[in-house]
Amino acid sequence: MITGVPASWYLVADSQEALPFQSNGIAVVQAGERSVCIARLTDGRLYAFAQRCPHVGVPLSEGWLDALGRVVCPGHAYRFDVCNGRNTSGEGYQLKTYALRVDLEGVFVRVP
Ligand code: FES
Repeated sequence: MITGVPASWYLVADSQEALPFQSNGIAVVQAGERSVCIARLTDGRLYAFAQRCPHVGVPLSEGWLDALGRVVCPGHAYRFDVCNGRNTSGEGYQLKTYALRVDLEGVFVRVP
């Protein structure tokens, strides 16, 4: 039984060092037809999430990471946990997150 479109892993960089991080610690990569943000937290962990804020679509790549590693939207300052997409500032939105893996072949993001 087909239950939906299967997700695919996309190579987004040849290595972690090749990710195009901006000064805010967020990189934007292309996974298939989807623009995806990758955040690098202070401990080096990487998390992938949607480029557009679930509120009204402002690019999260133009936001910033707070001291707890949450992405802050530049639109209206809603905050999202980049690990699970939870809206930690309490407005009730859910940020889409994506699986990410790093291996010897590069950095991969899994998107539908
Ligand atoms: S568009 Fe992101 S908080 Fe409003």
